[in-house]
Amino acid sequence: MTASMQALRERAEAFGQEHVFRFWAELDEAGKTQLAADLAQVDFPLMKRLADSWIHDEPPAETFDQIVPVPVIDKVDPERPDAVEAFAAGEDALRAGRVGLFLVAGGQGTRLGFDGPKGAYPIGPITGKTLFAYHAEKIRNLQRRYGCTLPWYIMVSHANGTATEAFFREQAFFGLDENNVKFITQRMVPCMDEQGRFMLESPGHLAMNPNGHGGCIPAMVENGVIADAESRGIDLLCYFQVDNWAVKVADPYFIGYHVRANAGMSSKNHRKNAPREAVGVHCLCDGQYRVIEYSELDIYPQLLETDATGKVIYYAGNPAIHILSTSFVSEVFNRFDDFPWHRAHKKVPYIDEAGHPVKPETPNAYKFETFVFDALRFIEHPPVALEIGRAGEYTPIKTFSGDNSVEAARAAMGDYWGAWFEAMGIEIPRDTEGHVAVPIEISPEFALTQEEFLEKAAGLAVSPGKGIAITADGTIIQP
Ligand code: UTP
Repeated sequence: MTASMQALRERAEAFGQEHVFRFWAELDEAGKTQLAADLAQVDFPLMKRLADSWIHDEPPAETFDQIVPVPVIDKVDPERPDAVEAFAAGEDALRAGRVGLFLVAGGQGTRLGFDGPKGAYPIGPITGKTLFAYHAEKIRNLQRRYGCTLPWYIMVSHANGTATEAFFREQAFFGLDENNVKFITQRMVPCMDEQGRFMLESPGHLAMNPNGHGGCIPAMVENGVIADAESRGIDLLCYFQVDNWAVKVADPYFIGYHVRANAGMSSKNHRKNAPREAVGVHCLCDGQYRVIEYSELDIYPQLLETDATGKVIYYAGNPAIHILSTSFVSEVFNRFDDFPWHRAHKKVPYIDEAGHPVKPETPNAYKFETFVFDALRFIEHPPVALEIGRAGEYTPIKTFSGDNSVEAARAAMGDYWGAWFEAMGIEIPRDTEGHVAVPIEISPEFALTQEEFLEKAAGLAVSPGKGIAITADGTIIQP
């Protein structure tokens, strides 16, 4: 054993994790190197702190004297003077090349259970177009419209990085310039069993998980995103999640409000449908900007209150769409050690004492993650919170069916784009609940907005048949 491996072993022993070496004698060189590499990235004191406070004990809930709904800018009405000004400021920032895109795609996508990076999921109901392709087509449209380059920074993790990069290569970067698509890898943390012990996924590999989307803050600084962005004259990063097919990746209104407020971090918010909807809520807690997770609603029961008309008072749901100024990321990076960690009880495959693989049927382990919205608490200058509707903005995919699912996203595509065809005078079948009853897809590269669609598709002769897809070059595909 080399001196550095011996040092790692002693460190693991000092923190009661020496059992991860139990197959050491049987490992070949590659296995030993892998296990050493896994252990070298472990922050042992941090993991001990997390086990002590979250596994051996339960941390006390935070208490606040006052929780109030966060002040939200009303949904954009293009006629409203503030919206007109925001739009102009956002378009100026785009044309001036001040905007970059930051996609978080490092998650494990366990609920969807798709065999591959989540962004490679073929969400298009007719074309089978992937989530990544949808995002890329939006970028191509915006670059054309504003005559700018939108560098695309994509956070991946050791769980999916190689497969994600290979997918982009296979797809020829979706027609984007490869030099403007940059992958960065977030850090991993060990999963822990119900006794706070690290677990082995294989004899030479710890069971680990990516450190949460909050891990983008150190990843942006440590992997040179901030330096690269600033060298290109970019000071605004539009943050979005891979599984939200509908996201407006660089929304001029949102950018404009952010710029005009000189904010460090801004968020979009959608109205919660019901008090217990599974979404975090933006609030001001003793004057600090926070997102309270839905799993904590019972700790702060006022968040469940409704008004006389039945509307949720703390309504500002968090769709995880933000803008981060590069200067804010650099500042908050220095506070990353103060970010709280969040615990999730999950099913984590492992090998048992005898080295046999076990696929648990019920949660058996804890994963610890940081969340990007916890950066809000370090904000001194008021952030922007902008209300959005969900259609054409927020349709995340977590599972195959039910709420926030593939099926729901495809239905939302039909409703959203079906209305564009109807605006052209084409009759689209709807079901008894008023939802569009055939699959519809419009390439975001062809048209990003209804206005653009009506302009480009004028005179298009098409009947809905069993569904309609319009490709980037305007070709019609019908199943
Ligand atoms: P989710 O929390 O929904 O996780 O991530 P997930 O990995 O997609 O799915 P589950 O929970 O395993 O089923 C929301 C977004 O944050 C990214 C995901 O890739 C997704 O875009 N994310 C999550 C990261 O980039 N890194 C992480 O460590 C966690």
